[in-house]
Amino acid sequence: MSTVFIVGCGDIGTRVARRYRERGEAVTALVRSPEKAPPLEQLGITTVIADLDDPATLTGVPFAGTTLFYFAPPPGGGHTDPRVRNFCASLPPDAQPSKIIYMSTSGVYGDCGDEVVTEESPALPRTARGKRRLDAELQLLEWGVERGVPVIVLRVTGIYGPGRLPVSQLTGGQPVLDAGIANLTNRIHSEDLATVCLAAAERGEAGELFNVSDGHPGTMTDYFNGVADLLGLPRPRQLSWEEARQEMSPLMLSYVSESRRMENRKMLEKLGVTLRYPTLAEGLTACK
Ligand SMILES: NC(=O)c1ccc[n+]([C@@H]2O[C@H](COP(=O)([O-])OP(=O)(O)OC[C@H]3O[C@@H](n4cnc5c(N)ncnc54)[C@H](OP(=O)(O)O)[C@@H]3O)[C@@H](O)[C@H]2O)c1
Repeated sequence: MSTVFIVGCGDIGTRVARRYRERGEAVTALVRSPEKAPPLEQLGITTVIADLDDPATLTGVPFAGTTLFYFAPPPGGGHTDPRVRNFCASLPPDAQPSKIIYMSTSGVYGDCGDEVVTEESPALPRTARGKRRLDAELQLLEWGVERGVPVIVLRVTGIYGPGRLPVSQLTGGQPVLDAGIANLTNRIHSEDLATVCLAAAERGEAGELFNVSDGHPGTMTDYFNGVADLLGLPRPRQLSWEEARQEMSPLMLSYVSESRRMENRKMLEKLGVTLRYPTLAEGLTACK
């Protein structure tokens, strides 16, 4: 019987799975394509092939009694998350997980200007992306209350770390906003995020929300400049708002249009997490 189940075993899922394997615990991962299974199996992770977009494939997946991490994103389009709906519908009362940790995003808060964002701040997503995440959170939390299964939500800020720096954006000449007008964004190193996930599984309680960030908001411009300096690449061009509206992709424009100053006190205190990389400078140095 597996103690840990990971739905959506990509970068963070694999980091979390490794931690449990190092402790000798059994881990099962749901993957949607067979070619994703062998690298996970090599780490001692049991794999089940199923697709959250295809409810029939979810029947009989061994979720029962596990600590389950749900890391799959909603599909693109619309304001809801049909994957979470399919997942919840696939769980009969006699085969449900014992706890669920859902990875959401800080995008559910929408644009907060210069305000400090705590877990008490209202979730007012402006983008379709943020609305889909909030829908996923609400569905899972409601399901958890109905079924008596603790659901913990992590509202995660921009993830960076080894293998996930914006290298192609920099080499491809993607511009950023002028440093003087760039909004506040927040980040978390992927290894620290894995630590938070395990702490949430251990100490998080039913219905709790946690903001997950390193506690040092900065701008996207500072981040891209920091990565360029680390990798010896030219710093990106900086644009005015007028230029950005013409040149940036809609996705990038939506990211840089929102501002949040995320607080991480609840994560540090309630989950008892000590961050290895509390600043971007420390985290980037470790990505070399
Ligand atoms: N990027 C950020 O800065 C950021 C910030 C906050 C939160 N997040 C969210 O945090 C979560 C974990 O991040 P990550 O970096 O580990 O993501 P990731 O590497 O993309 O992993 C997500 C996993 O979900 C799987 N998945 C997607 N659709 C699926 C489906 N229909 N059925 C089954 N599995 C499916 C993917 O499988 P395939 O490999 O087959 O696609 C992938 O293995 C994601 O939801 C991400 O959106 C990201």
